[in-house]
Amino acid sequence: MAIGVQSTEIQEHFNKLFSAILLEQQKIDHIKPADEDKKEILNAKLKEYEQLKGRGFFYAFMASGRGHGPFVEMVDGSIKFDLINGIGVNLLGHSHPIYIKANLEAATSDTMMTGNLLSYQEPYELSKVLIDAVKESNLKHFWFSCSGSFANDTALKILWQKKAPNYRLIAFQKSFAGRSIAMQDVTYNASYREGMPSSIQVDHVPHYNYKDPENALRNTLNALDKLIEKNGNTYCALTIELIQGEAGFIFGTKEYYEEIFKWAKARGIYIWIDEVQSFARTHQLFAYQMFGLDKYVDIVTVGKVLQACGTFYSDELNPKPGLIAGTFNGSVASMNAGKSIVRYLTEGNFYGKSGRIQELELKFKAEFKKLAEGTCSGKIPYYGGVGTMLSFEVGDASNDTTNKFMKKLFDNGIITFSAGKEPTRVRFLLPLSLLDEHIQEIFSILEKTILEVI
Ligand SMILES: Cc1ncc(COP(=O)(O)O)c(C=O)c1O
Repeated sequence: MAIGVQSTEIQEHFNKLFSAILLEQQKIDHIKPADEDKKEILNAKLKEYEQLKGRGFFYAFMASGRGHGPFVEMVDGSIKFDLINGIGVNLLGHSHPIYIKANLEAATSDTMMTGNLLSYQEPYELSKVLIDAVKESNLKHFWFSCSGSFANDTALKILWQKKAPNYRLIAFQKSFAGRSIAMQDVTYNASYREGMPSSIQVDHVPHYNYKDPENALRNTLNALDKLIEKNGNTYCALTIELIQGEAGFIFGTKEYYEEIFKWAKARGIYIWIDEVQSFARTHQLFAYQMFGLDKYVDIVTVGKVLQACGTFYSDELNPKPGLIAGTFNGSVASMNAGKSIVRYLTEGNFYGKSGRIQELELKFKAEFKKLAEGTCSGKIPYYGGVGTMLSFEVGDASNDTTNKFMKKLFDNGIITFSAGKEPTRVRFLLPLSLLDEHIQEIFSILEKTILEVI
């Protein structure tokens, strides 16, 4: 523990508090329905919160702050399997010792937040760990932001400055890049920018078509060629999610990505990978590493699992002073956690062919196969994905059916979220804290819910 103030007394209290908190949280170790006397409390709080936000909630979900591993408790005392964890944030699981320790250590600091003029050791330490993790690539610098969207805005500004006045951007159909004024135009779904003026010039081309793998590359390359024919080479970069999250985990092959990246490089168009959702969740720390694309990447954005957000870039892209700055980098606790998370993941047995992430993926797929070929035959038209990013379709895969199914699944004790549209998929962003016995229970709840709803 070396953050702020230190003494033997603080260390003793720290050790006691750390174990007391962990032991209390570990009591949340199975799913259970709501407590009768707390149901009304949750309803009242949610109603009031809905009023404050001006918007209803999809699930009756307000967490109590108690949770452990894959389990999270609601204000009404119900406990559920959290298989979406805030759209991908808690990869390690709830109340992981790293989170508890990071929070307690941060309490010894004299500040809450770090930033450009709040320069503390924690962002420096985290930057070192991050840059070390990308050492096979040309990425040499890391700049913190307070959201994935802002990390993407930073990437775009860096690219624009470098390539001015070539401001056009290539993105992919079904992509999601966030909701800032610039990123809402990169995001493919037009309903997310209703009534907005378009602010940047983005052209979307088809991503990998897994239903037509033979022609997938040719179709994308043809679309790219057409852009140049139409607009000339006025492009600064090509931005891509290698695993498209909001689309329901659509992804291509190494060869597909390599050919597209070669096409871009031959035209001086930079490669920007959005790993805000995929960071740490596939068979390597970065999805671009899993596909062996290290030598192509010029700029990469991350968020979510790291508990912090930011932009990696090469020396060549280092912007002029003044272009990027901001008050905050993130909290001391999140910087502190980010460093330990990257170390834990890279030093443990999580990645590669025999890593836990690949093992979890195979176990889930084997269970889906059993269901799809057994009791739920004809009711699961699709299941797939990679690493901890898995999804499946139920029934006719319409929005209505999928929403109805997910709500029933929530009542039955599993939290998921949707992705894609017609087909709409049920999305898992799995925590690593799942044990085999949890997986068995999850699949018996899935089976029961599919048979109830579909
Ligand atoms: C691929 C991708 N990029 C960017 C974002 C935006 O991140 P944030 O919500 O932190 O702004 C997200 C969020 O879901 C994402 O999945």
